Amino acid sequence: MYRDKTCGELRIANVGETVTLAGWVQRIRKMGGMTFIDLRDRYGITQIVFNTEVNSDLKDAANLLGREFVVQIKGVVTERTSKNPKLPTGDIEIEASEVKVLNSSAIPPFTIEDESDGGDDLRMKYRYLDLRRNPVRKNIELRHRMTMEVRRYLDSKGFLEIETPMLIGSTPEGARDFVVPSRMNHGQFYALPQSPQTLKQLLMVAGMDRYFQIVKCFRDEDLRADRQPEFTQIDCEMSFVEQEDVLNLFEGMAKHLFKEIRGIEIEGQFPRMTWADAMRLYGSDKPDTRFGMTFVELDDVLKGHGFSVFDNAAYIGGICVEGAASYTRKQIDQLTEWVKRPQIGAKGMVYARVEADGNVKSSVDKFYTQEVLQQLKEKMNAKPGDLILILSGDNAMKTRKQLGELRLEMGNRLGLRDKNVFSCLWVIDFPMFEWSEEEGRLMAMHHPFTHPKEEDIPLLDTDPAAVRADAYDMVINGVEVGGGSIRIHDSALQAKMFDILGFTPEKAREQFGFLMNAFTYGAPPHGGLAYGLDRWVSLMAGLDSIRDCIAFPKNNSGRDVMLDAPAPLDQKQLDELSLAVVEID
Ligand code: AMO
Repeated sequence: MYRDKTCGELRIANVGETVTLAGWVQRIRKMGGMTFIDLRDRYGITQIVFNTEVNSDLKDAANLLGREFVVQIKGVVTERTSKNPKLPTGDIEIEASEVKVLNSSAIPPFTIEDESDGGDDLRMKYRYLDLRRNPVRKNIELRHRMTMEVRRYLDSKGFLEIETPMLIGSTPEGARDFVVPSRMNHGQFYALPQSPQTLKQLLMVAGMDRYFQIVKCFRDEDLRADRQPEFTQIDCEMSFVEQEDVLNLFEGMAKHLFKEIRGIEIEGQFPRMTWADAMRLYGSDKPDTRFGMTFVELDDVLKGHGFSVFDNAAYIGGICVEGAASYTRKQIDQLTEWVKRPQIGAKGMVYARVEADGNVKSSVDKFYTQEVLQQLKEKMNAKPGDLILILSGDNAMKTRKQLGELRLEMGNRLGLRDKNVFSCLWVIDFPMFEWSEEEGRLMAMHHPFTHPKEEDIPLLDTDPAAVRADAYDMVINGVEVGGGSIRIHDSALQAKMFDILGFTPEKAREQFGFLMNAFTYGAPPHGGLAYGLDRWVSLMAGLDSIRDCIAFPKNNSGRDVMLDAPAPLDQKQLDELSLAVVEID
């Protein structure tokens, strides 16, 4: 037996017991005739003491040890003289009587402690060492607990966990696919699923009624803090449901997770906000509702006073930043530079301060009388001490997004985005389509299988851009943690959708014939949702990036620096696949 106790479980009640522990040497400290070791395993850290003065064998052994050596230690649990209240095992130590080196270790490239001196790249290259660190390991443990809770909740609601294939066909909508060449079918390729969307719909046609899967999805898209090329969905689908049924069931799951994982009880229904309101009030389809600072449209107050920037704008909107009138000129200039950065793209920013006496001072005072500025103050519901920030532009949607970024930045600066406060909502009634400049056509905003809102179906023929969908996202603290929709289950309506999306009937049949065909055999009304597991875990753990809750993530260029992937293939492998790599400049 390698061990009879772990490094995390011994307490004062165990004093006097003889125990055997096994783990990694995190630290060695020598003090006079004593050597102290922090012995670490997944469960914690226990201090081991070698009294090398009384036992010369131990002295030799202690001198041989190095960081990250794997050792087995036998000894007696004793009460510490100087206790460490920060460690659960901090009241005791093990007085070692025997030590056995199970394996040595090269000197690790960075310190494997809570605070590491290793940079991002180094820690990713040696991820197996990074994973030994408490904070990283804790995220992996949390992820496990969350998937267990997800399974428990969905099982209790009658869902079946069903696996769907990873080697499927490429579909033209959505992000780019990762493709896999087929050796047995020369010149042909599989694609890895961006999501099991069509397969789960087929499972509904198959009568499975309630399906879920904790499933890897693959999307070849640009990476961000909340995006990885392979990520995990909690993918679900239900038959004989309407939107409300889906929202209620998955809101129940969110509440279950908050309660079990964070001990937070969320009372009442999550607010539901239409997409149009989210864009109007927050300039985002994933508003962070932990704080107010909602947009106020100011066209009626600020247009027509000779300030051409506003007079010619398609949109003028402001936010009222409470208590920020104390912002100095320099701080405001910095903020103006911030909104003008290419990532935000605003042309400039106008500000107005409400002074202690109620007077308003603005950066465009010469165009506006105090009377108009007072109207502005009223419209913004601003009080003395508040700062009004205004953006305008010739494209309303773009300007709203810029103002949305500014709002989030002010939220950050004022400390309004506390990671321990959770604000959940549903964003509903998404538009069915969005215009793609790149493609020069309407694209499905969610996906082509989404059901239009019943009352908007006539608009499909007259004004498709105005059609809203039975599509919904769950948003927590400005993060889209999940999204889904009610699906089309009628093959004629599905064919019409493909037509609007610019598919010829032949192309639609070629790409989605299997689905349309299935729909001719009695498809039940159905709908579903997929949560992003990585996003859920990082939200619950208060992480800045989903990378930190993935055991082996990719870096920002989509590389696995530990495995050194992707990499070129041998000529032999290329030949077998009848592939040739062509250099193009
Ligand atoms: P959608 O594309 O909205 O919907 O994805 C569902 C959820 O998956 C998460 N997510 C991601 N997480 C990490 N990295 C990524 N690259 C990434 N992309 C998406 C998000 C998102 O809300 N089939 C539909 C769902 C449905 O209609 O049922 C789908 O895939 O949290």
